[in-house]
Amino acid sequence: MQCDHLINVKNIDTVPARSEIAALVKHDRVHTSLYTSDDLFQLELDRIFGKTWVWVAHASEIPETGSFKTTEIGTQPVIVVRDRKGTVHTLLNRCRHRAATVCEHRSGKTNSFVCPYHGWGYALDGSLRGVPHPESYADQLEKGELGLVSLRTEQYAGMIFATFNDQIEPLEDFLGAAKKWMDLFMKQGAGYPIKTGPAHRFRFPGNWKIQLENTTDGYHFPVVHRSFLSSVDKQTEEMLNFVDGSGYVEDLGNGHSVMVMIPELVDLEANLDAPIPERFSELADALRAEHDEAQVRRIVRAVGGSGFNLNIFPNIACSMAFFRVLQPVSVSETEIHHAVITMDGGPDVANQARLRLHEHFQGPMGFGTPDDSEAWERVQRGATSGEDLWIMLNRGLAGDYRTDDGLRSDVSAETGMRAAYRQWKKLMMENEQ
Ligand code: FES
Ligand SMILES: [Fe+2]
Repeated sequence: MQCDHLINVKNIDTVPARSEIAALVKHDRVHTSLYTSDDLFQLELDRIFGKTWVWVAHASEIPETGSFKTTEIGTQPVIVVRDRKGTVHTLLNRCRHRAATVCEHRSGKTNSFVCPYHGWGYALDGSLRGVPHPESYADQLEKGELGLVSLRTEQYAGMIFATFNDQIEPLEDFLGAAKKWMDLFMKQGAGYPIKTGPAHRFRFPGNWKIQLENTTDGYHFPVVHRSFLSSVDKQTEEMLNFVDGSGYVEDLGNGHSVMVMIPELVDLEANLDAPIPERFSELADALRAEHDEAQVRRIVRAVGGSGFNLNIFPNIACSMAFFRVLQPVSVSETEIHHAVITMDGGPDVANQARLRLHEHFQGPMGFGTPDDSEAWERVQRGATSGEDLWIMLNRGLAGDYRTDDGLRSDVSAETGMRAAYRQWKKLMMENEQ
């Protein structure tokens, strides 16, 4: 099955030519086949997920020696693990004997990985330590050659990325202008290290790029999230009525983009004298028992999360107070992981408040994500009708203007989507073999 699948990918008859790919992405629209073509999906796994930096973990998920998590890059299973020296490794989750995954736990702590099929044992850095009954190999077992395949892994601001591409630029160059937004996003620890909780996972029957588009799509918010807006207090509703406000969307290069919904909440450590919103007054009172007023204000301000959504191409979003990880499953199926961010060692009342806010929008019974997910599903369903039509991305095009970091337009512009598809096209074309 896996073999057939690979043969398909390489089948020259089904691989669109460079000129065909170029024709699918214009500056203001993309072709519907980007959501529906399995050939394009297979190429994306190779030329995008197989060639660029892909987010795999937050450092707080693997805090100690032997801490690990399993995840996927594209559809390839990997293990992210911290070794005895504190170095983080991203290892292909594939035994070098006969390919079994060596670990199926989502996360945990271990001294080594032992393949459950015939018992080959690997150290935390992936090196092959021992095999049962080695005598039968005589001198035919090249242990030094048979460690778990280790991918290039780098991190910035606690965000760990890995790549199959040894030739790629350093992570920090790839992140470029997104770095300053990552630094701002991490301020929601209010002085405590930030820590991600266990992720809430779900799948939707739609292409991964439909979700990728959504993170910096301000236009949908008042429409799709009407029921959410009616579930919050008046003050919060007004704050979230940002489509007519002074926020903006910015193309940060390399496919990354940011949508600033609430400019006064860009820097959570600024404006600490601003009035405490009504919805946090109880929390503030509870915190005053143990913290001085300056710290109360800092924590309260951080609890609601940042006033922007940062989309890092191709698979991770930093959104208000959570990470959203995007996992392609097939051309028409995508898995999403939502991980709430808490303050490690911070006050319980503050972390509980964050969890409640997260559940209220992102939770399975929440007022936000289930509505988003229905919209994404409807895009995929609609896209199967009239596959020769275009997906329009020209909103705000006329207002795009240059900044030091890239291109900026109004908050409900489709500038972020144009940024992502420009990178999509670049990678799909330059990584042709
Ligand atoms: S497949 Fe892993 S030990 Fe055989
Ligand atoms: Fe949404």
